[in-house]
Amino acid sequence: MCGIVGYIGRQEAAPVVLEGLTRLEHRGYDSAGVAVLGNRGVRVVKQAGRVRDLAGVLPKRFAGATGIGHTRWATHGPATDANAHPHTDEAGRVAVVHNGIIDNSAALRAELADAGVTLASDTDTEVLAHLVARSDADTLEGKVRDALGAVVGTYGLAVLHADFPDRIVVARNGSPLVVGVGDKEMYVASDLAAIVRHTTTVAVLDDGEMATVTAAGFSTMRHRDLVATGKTAAQLDVDAASYEAGEHESFMRKEILEQPTTAQAVLRGRLDERFGTAHLGGLDMDARDLRAVRRVKILGCGSAYYVGQMGAALIEELARIPADAEAASEFRYRNPVIEPDTLYVAVSQSGETIDTLLAVQEVRRKGGRCVGLVNVVGSAIARECDGGIYLHAGPEVAVASTKALTNMFLAFALLALQLGRVRDLSIADGKRLVAGLERLPGQIEEVLAGEADLVEVAKDLAEARSLFFIGRVRGFPVAREGAQKFKEISYRHAEAYQTSELKHGPLALIDPEVPTVALVPHDELAERNVGALHEIEARKGPLVVITHEDVDLGEVSARRIVVPRNEPELDPILLNVPLQLLAYHAAQHLGHDIDKPRNLAKSVTVE
Ligand code: AGP
Repeated sequence: MCGIVGYIGRQEAAPVVLEGLTRLEHRGYDSAGVAVLGNRGVRVVKQAGRVRDLAGVLPKRFAGATGIGHTRWATHGPATDANAHPHTDEAGRVAVVHNGIIDNSAALRAELADAGVTLASDTDTEVLAHLVARSDADTLEGKVRDALGAVVGTYGLAVLHADFPDRIVVARNGSPLVVGVGDKEMYVASDLAAIVRHTTTVAVLDDGEMATVTAAGFSTMRHRDLVATGKTAAQLDVDAASYEAGEHESFMRKEILEQPTTAQAVLRGRLDERFGTAHLGGLDMDARDLRAVRRVKILGCGSAYYVGQMGAALIEELARIPADAEAASEFRYRNPVIEPDTLYVAVSQSGETIDTLLAVQEVRRKGGRCVGLVNVVGSAIARECDGGIYLHAGPEVAVASTKALTNMFLAFALLALQLGRVRDLSIADGKRLVAGLERLPGQIEEVLAGEADLVEVAKDLAEARSLFFIGRVRGFPVAREGAQKFKEISYRHAEAYQTSELKHGPLALIDPEVPTVALVPHDELAERNVGALHEIEARKGPLVVITHEDVDLGEVSARRIVVPRNEPELDPILLNVPLQLLAYHAAQHLGHDIDKPRNLAKSVTVE
């Protein structure tokens, strides 16, 4: 959602900050702004619209070697110039950028108004600028501490003050912030992507922490009492090139094509061919702990929830433990029963999705054990969990998640294997699945090699106003994920149904204008699935069938997309790859901004 970038050092800050903001565009935003601190004090330019439009309206002389910038995704108040960040106090001496939500902003706004302050925006953030300006502490850190003492809510924020020109003060509570170390210059950002071209030596702030950042370095402290926390920066093992689209026309395409490699990364070192099992040291659970699990509850949002459903099916099949997935966004609100022998599994690419994070906190508050399947190392969810499996998919920039989801499925396969092998899954079955998992990256590559055959199919699907995606049992969550991906970037109405449910209602909608994408793997349900295809065809519904070579579709006339067979339990992942490509090519045909679909953000950090 919102993004923060800051710079202090020897260069002009504005270009560095603006460039950083462009690296955060994928997170979703509707306005942008930048503040610099130079000889002429604090100066701010901000407006609704894109970063490139902001760059076009910056005054020629917008000098200052200290600067902060922001991309805003509207929550409190519409996307207007006034509501864009940075926000300032009335005298224009303080500038604040903020990610998160100030829950008590209405009360604080009223108090400020009563005290005679004229508020210039509808936002919750603006109160912070006034509170900092009104504090009588004699250091900027003290002023920020006083301001934060008055607010309730979540924040990652950066503050400039004309009286303290040598520093940026940043603070975190529930919204990520990193400090990047350069050579006599320093960076701050809400996402490593913004600064990775400049530095990979970073310190990740913890909730409750504040940092003073000067050109010479940084120091950290608790923001409630300014007691030093002594955090140091560490060199991260990341490749700056992995944050670039390179020769690819979009990040989504790049990330789809990376899957054979990234799939290997999540499996590497975790498969045990000899005993037909997996080793997941990060779970921090020995065989006895694993055996004591009586139920598995998976929590995630959006696509992570759908992959969670695939994972639950795998766990039930391989380990014979009752397992289900639930939307993390709903979980906390029904006062869930937390059982001591249930293993809770939080799934998240970003590790920052607030609904998933709050669900994890609910589980742990009630004494439950929660492990994470998370891509971003050191992210909030990863840190909140008792242990976990990192996905090793590399940075995922496109809003529509692809490679991370594939790795979520693979991580679930590893977990299911390990849970299964401490129970009744035989060594033979374990070895069969280990071999299947080892074959998968190559088979994903085979599916990708058939991309050209899908382009025309995708174009035709793009022309439909409404589509169905159908599948059964293992295939149903894949259909849900396929519909999700299609709607996210093509803006077409795409709905997923269990194939078996068609004649209980949705069949009424089938006609020549409503295509169906059907998943018909070679499994025990193939014949029944083909029966449903006949029913669709009889209503003249156009059909695209994703299937295996040896499935006999009989007389059904359908556009057939064949994927390689693996072990049936692992079918979902190979069925899903063509769905990614169909969504991608449909959106491309429609001329949409594939990496930044309208109204969506890469990670949803507000409830
Ligand atoms: C996926 O294509 C979506 N953009 C979205 O549903 C996403 O999966 C969801 O918001 C969860 O994100 P997370 O994995 O970062 O927690």
